[in-house]
Amino acid sequence: MKYINNLLLKFLHKIPPELSHNITIKLLKNGLNPQNFIKNYKNLNVSLGNINFKHPIGLAAGFDKNAEAFHKIDKLGLSHIEIGTVTPKYQAGNDKPRVFRLHQDKAIINRLGFPSKGLSYVKKRLERHKSNIPLGINIGCNKETTDYIGDYLKLTKNLGHYANWLTINISSPNTPGLRNLQTSNMLSKLLQTIDNERKIIENMKGSSLQIWLKIAPDLNDQELKKLIDTSIQNNIDALCISNTTIKRPNDLISNSKLENGGLSGKPLFSQSTIMLAKAYLYSQNNIKFIGIGGIDSGETAYLKILAGATILQIYTGLVYNGPAMINKINNELSVKTGSEKLSKIIGSKAYEIINGNYLND
Ligand SMILES: Cc1cc2nc3c(=O)[nH]c(=O)nc-3n(C[C@H](O)[C@H](O)[C@H](O)COP(=O)(O)O)c2cc1C
Repeated sequence: MKYINNLLLKFLHKIPPELSHNITIKLLKNGLNPQNFIKNYKNLNVSLGNINFKHPIGLAAGFDKNAEAFHKIDKLGLSHIEIGTVTPKYQAGNDKPRVFRLHQDKAIINRLGFPSKGLSYVKKRLERHKSNIPLGINIGCNKETTDYIGDYLKLTKNLGHYANWLTINISSPNTPGLRNLQTSNMLSKLLQTIDNERKIIENMKGSSLQIWLKIAPDLNDQELKKLIDTSIQNNIDALCISNTTIKRPNDLISNSKLENGGLSGKPLFSQSTIMLAKAYLYSQNNIKFIGIGGIDSGETAYLKILAGATILQIYTGLVYNGPAMINKINNELSVKTGSEKLSKIIGSKAYEIINGNYLND
């Protein structure tokens, strides 16, 4: 089985990235994926508010944008999944090619620009299928919108009933103007509007709906602090740190390194982990964190938790290493955590990480 999985991974790396992704989604949708049952690691059980996760590792947004395979994802051994980004209306996204593998750097640059089959398509999929693991829905506005808040409100009203959490995505670098929402005066109004709607949905469905906010790793310290204050004031449950970066580290070597778009994977690890540690210390336990960016081993997962993450999400590491990586990370993480509970070590080395003592670039 391992041999077949390695062959499949090799084949998927030989063909263009988007085609490879579409084939992977089809395989998953039809149950033709390798199975990695979730082992029960007692020391890795973790909860965030009222949501319990068997272990911290979940699938980041962007992989199952249109809710095609979310109901089969647990078979890969992941503890949760975030579908989307979903936009209100169908949109095609940017011209192809728009995803580039940086093999030698174990990274990806994408400038997809929120291709989405739109709200009504995704809603139908969610009516038809249920997730076996906690489910988040990542929401974003249409490129041509003139009413940002209206777009996010519409998505919240329509999709909130199906999710354990909604993630407000204002950090894609590929929708012009979107990232400016992070630092604009409009942010408070946006978060307040979504928080009000969340309460209505919670009353209707009789269970809680968390609101998470996904941010860019390119904010400066002052912008980050202001955003954290605004998020706490508006009852945001968690910040997802981070989305892709528009920066290009000097040591990238792959041919596609200068393509426009957001960079993910290994080269994003330090930048996103240092930002996570800063956010953790600044927030003084008033908000939780989802650690995302460059996780591909037990060590990188462990460092994200020491920096302040309660749970973790992966994307690019999975593209390069395949689903076998998930159980491998958990095995290593369980050994590292030892007799401690995971929840006891969250943020315990945030200070050291900021001071450069823990991360080897
Ligand atoms: C091809 C691709 C598409 C993505 N699409 C989305 C998206 O639609 N919404 C989103 O919030 N993040 C999206 N992301 C960002 C990932 O969710 C994640 O934040 C980022 O890739 C860093 O994690 P990683 O280094 O493990 O990949 C995408 C990433 C990639 C590589």
